Amino acid sequence: MQAGVDSQLLTPTVGRLGQDETPAAAEVATETVLVLDFGSQTSQLIARRVREARVYCELIPGTTPVDEIRRRRPLGLILSGGPASVYAAGAPRPDPAVYRLGVPILGICYGMQLLAHDLGGQVEPSARREYGPATVTVDEPGPLFFGLPSRLPVWMSHGDVIRRPPAGFRAVAHSQESPVAAMRDEAGRIGIQFHPEVVHTPMGAEILRNFLYRICGCTGSWESEHFIERTVEEVRSRVGDARVICALSGGVDSAVTAALVHRAVGDQLTCIFVDNGLLRRGEGDRVVDVLTRSMRMDIRRVDAQDHFLQALAGVVDPEEKRRIIGREFIHVFESAATQLGRVPYLAQGTLYPDVIESTASDTEHAHKIKTHHNVGGLPERMRFQLVEPLRALFKDEVRQVGRGLGLPDDLVRRQPFPGPGLAIRIIGPVTKERLETVRAADWIVIDEMKRTGLYHQVWQSFAILTPISSVGVMGDYRTYANVVAVRIVESQDGMTADWARIPSDVLADISRRIVGEVPGVNRVVYDISSKPPSTIEWE
Ligand code: XMP
Repeated sequence: MQAGVDSQLLTPTVGRLGQDETPAAAEVATETVLVLDFGSQTSQLIARRVREARVYCELIPGTTPVDEIRRRRPLGLILSGGPASVYAAGAPRPDPAVYRLGVPILGICYGMQLLAHDLGGQVEPSARREYGPATVTVDEPGPLFFGLPSRLPVWMSHGDVIRRPPAGFRAVAHSQESPVAAMRDEAGRIGIQFHPEVVHTPMGAEILRNFLYRICGCTGSWESEHFIERTVEEVRSRVGDARVICALSGGVDSAVTAALVHRAVGDQLTCIFVDNGLLRRGEGDRVVDVLTRSMRMDIRRVDAQDHFLQALAGVVDPEEKRRIIGREFIHVFESAATQLGRVPYLAQGTLYPDVIESTASDTEHAHKIKTHHNVGGLPERMRFQLVEPLRALFKDEVRQVGRGLGLPDDLVRRQPFPGPGLAIRIIGPVTKERLETVRAADWIVIDEMKRTGLYHQVWQSFAILTPISSVGVMGDYRTYANVVAVRIVESQDGMTADWARIPSDVLADISRRIVGEVPGVNRVVYDISSKPPSTIEWE
């Protein structure tokens, strides 16, 4: 992937696996394909698409020595895209022995240019860069394009083109700007100029599946159960008989992390659940209940509701609220953790999007999500080694793993909820009374969405308590009471969103119930803003 592409479409910079995070015991899965990452914004998406095709896949640095790659016995390698030009000094490239490993290789964009350049072909800057949708004409279908039409809509994003394929390679497809849009040799080494991993290449999944099944010989036997087995092994061998601590937030990610680590090391894990009083109704109780009862986990629940309320008293600025909540969380967590004595490991529910967000320099907000979510600001004296078993996964993959671990569906499929909780859904100061109001309204929104079967069809649905009072009439009385806003959005990943076109009778029921059942509310409005220019949360 070259610089300057549509950032809406693509996830930002990839966080590479550092030495410490390379799964120590990620030995040999039955069928593994490795993505060698050369810095594309979509490298992790490639890995995800491969896993969707039920083949185990991991992202590793593009420069990983060949011995390490051989040790994992991959059935195939994918060279990702990247922002560099292959002929530039210092451009990242694979260990040259990778090309002679004897396993099929799929080079995507920069990865294809690497293949071409390193094996003696000719790569040069294109007179006209190709960014965005394009059509590729397949001249020789072969196994990669098996079963596909000869003209394929694809997503291109490159400034360099292959003028001449290396000896032994044939051009098998072209586009208007790329004389060699795909090439291959007899040894199963293939290059494609376009990105099969993005949704804008509608037949990309088929192309990847062809590579995996028809070229690498994979059978697609990988499932989330294998991920669980493998990860449990990894955590066990890394942690040994040491202790692990995990902060439960009430959300899916930390619950799945805890369940996974618990399966690996059992009683060596202690969870700390800081009840900040900012959760939705019943949320904390439900998680703690499930994990203690059915999984028999050691959970220390710290009731810090008053503590948080005091710290937030009179605070209006949203960022200030976030800072305070993050800071107080650390205080409470630290004092609970200190009582446990020496614990070397901290398990965190960092997901792949968190990894992206934490490395994205342009989104200050996203950075804060990371800071809070990942207990990022723990003081120096509380140095932990991190165990992040979900680091390579996307949210829906985490849900799958949660199900595989036996967590109940209502917990696993819960909508996302922000770390600072209801505090950022109360516009203006947070008080006990206002928390009760928004919590009660939120409960009704969720209840109605579940009753009508819409809950799982949207990204988030919730209530906001506005700072506005308005006049109403109830019975014979004039009222002057709170306005509640209802926000229901559809989204793929929370980065962009649109307001959901909820049937008007459902909205009518939500409104009627909130005004009827929540004291101090006499008006409900529906938020019809998309993101951008608005955000999902109001604060
Ligand atoms: P926005 O409001 O930025 O939200 O459109 C995008 C997604 O992120 C969630 N969100 C947060 N999550 N800490 C979190 O852990 C935060 O400070 C935070 N702010 C927003 C929001 O619920 C939505 O899913």
